[in-house]
Amino acid sequence: MSDSTTDVEFDPKDPNHSQFDLVREGARRDGVEIVHYQPRFAVAGTKREKRIERAIAFLLLLTGLSALAFIVIYVAWPYKYEQGYHLDKLYTPLLGFTMGLALFGLGAAIIVWVKKLMPEEVAVQDRHDNNPDLVERQLTAATLMSALDETGIKRRPLLKGALALGAAPLGIMAIMPLGALIKDPHSKDEPLFHTGFKEGVRLVRQDGTPIRVGEVSAGGLETVFPGIPEGTTLKYADSPTLLIHLREEDAAEFKPRKGYENAHYGNYFAYSKICTHAGCPASLYEQQTNRLLCPCHQSQFDVKDSCRPIFGPATRRLPQLPITVDEEGYFVAKSDFKEAIGPAFWERP
Ligand code: FES
Repeated sequence: MSDSTTDVEFDPKDPNHSQFDLVREGARRDGVEIVHYQPRFAVAGTKREKRIERAIAFLLLLTGLSALAFIVIYVAWPYKYEQGYHLDKLYTPLLGFTMGLALFGLGAAIIVWVKKLMPEEVAVQDRHDNNPDLVERQLTAATLMSALDETGIKRRPLLKGALALGAAPLGIMAIMPLGALIKDPHSKDEPLFHTGFKEGVRLVRQDGTPIRVGEVSAGGLETVFPGIPEGTTLKYADSPTLLIHLREEDAAEFKPRKGYENAHYGNYFAYSKICTHAGCPASLYEQQTNRLLCPCHQSQFDVKDSCRPIFGPATRRLPQLPITVDEEGYFVAKSDFKEAIGPAFWERP
């Protein structure tokens, strides 16, 4: 509680006041009574004090080194999945471990510093709601400076250096994850925009054998994959494609999408097998109606209308794969799919 009489009498700029006098006065005006105050070390520079300083310095350096390790791992450790390669599996655990160690080191250093080096103090404080005047603000500033002095940082160069070494990498560590936020989500390198198909890649069966014209009967279909290493594995899980051979009369009624006029070869059409609703395989083919059905939520796609969704929750067409045949008569892709496969995702254009 502020006391106007004492405010006038007490001059915080009086050189006869020690810093502790200012602190005590500031505390008193705030309704805080310091009932016990005792420095931890009556004599500065004892062996015990040095030992504690070294322990704190060690913890701060541990913080700095762990934060540094975090930064190096974040930037340089392999994190992308590669077949038969396992270092990527350690990426997240190592980031978590080094970050945890850095925070532990800092927390432990603060606790030891406060408990072992700073003066013992017991104070009782009343709540006060008044707006502080100028003198009170000066006294508060003096209190803060006193708190800084009590840490002993000014006369402990070892701890000052250790704090700088520990805190700098920790600060960088804290902002490192922001790097992920400046990554271009629309980058065409994103795996969600690619399948295993590209120009010249053959369409192969699950067992890897390529398919020639005539090997799918009219009115039938075959599930095909990119004829590349691991093209039939989960690594290219978005690549499964339906190679559909429309009957002559159905092919005559086919309605191509704009830009896909030459995407088929004769009466053969290739569409992604991944449903655009939630990604199930849309593989039930109703030959009489030329509809593809997805068993998960009953979406239906009209093949004769470029796989336009005509029933169920799917709202996008199944993407079409442009195809042709190579000089040996095998089906090949003319390019990758021109749009992202499967259900919607945030960055899908
Ligand atoms: S995933 Fe195909 S309808 Fe839902």
